[in-house]
Amino acid sequence: MLRKADYSAPVFVAAALGLFFIGGLLTTVVPPLMDKSWAKPFENSDAAKGVTGKLQPYTEQQLQGRAIYVREGCWYCHTQQTRTLLADTKRSGWRGVDAPISTPDEFVYDSPHLFGTKRTGPDLSRVGGKYDEQWHKAHFRNPRDLVPGSIMPPFPWIANNETEFQALVAYMQTLGRAKNWRPDNDYEK
Ligand code: HEC
Repeated sequence: MLRKADYSAPVFVAAALGLFFIGGLLTTVVPPLMDKSWAKPFENSDAAKGVTGKLQPYTEQQLQGRAIYVREGCWYCHTQQTRTLLADTKRSGWRGVDAPISTPDEFVYDSPHLFGTKRTGPDLSRVGGKYDEQWHKAHFRNPRDLVPGSIMPPFPWIANNETEFQALVAYMQTLGRAKNWRPDNDYEK
């Protein structure tokens, strides 16, 4: 059959599609069927380290913020996935603690997911709790006031709309919070 595929385009296409299909099944369908923890909300309890955290469903306000994040296209420039790379875990780290890598159980309430593909700006999957509200307000008003040379555009219509601003910040503060990994942090959720 495979030898025949060398000489016949239709057989070659059929064989290639067949192999592609098997590969797709094995890498995307079978693993979540076998490991059910992927479909459960993240839970983190390490009493020895005083760590507890649980992924909660989004509140109305956070959902509104998420919708604004989608509407404004923040995901054109920002990803939400901490990969297994030092460049990610160190970049998002905090006071000497590396950021935990992303796991499937963090995304069970995300529909659609906002993993993104392009890292024009830094990854935001661990940004929750990094900055307070005041920082975000100044940053949306004009990123270059805080980060010289920033190419993030200003979003004054968000900074000046208290309801939208509060919602967007509430959403951003959820990112990575369930992992409860950031030491000495008490910014409000
Ligand atoms: C044109 C690309 C672009 C768009 C669109 C964009 N950003 Fe950014 N963003 C950046 C860049 C570049 C940086 C890094 C420099 C800085 O901090 O200003 C950044 C930084 C950030 C940071 C700080 C991250 C950190 O770890 O320091 C946050 C938070 C953020 N952006 C949120 C947003 C939100 C929310 C939106 C949508 C309203 C958005 N960005 C839209 C490019 C973008």
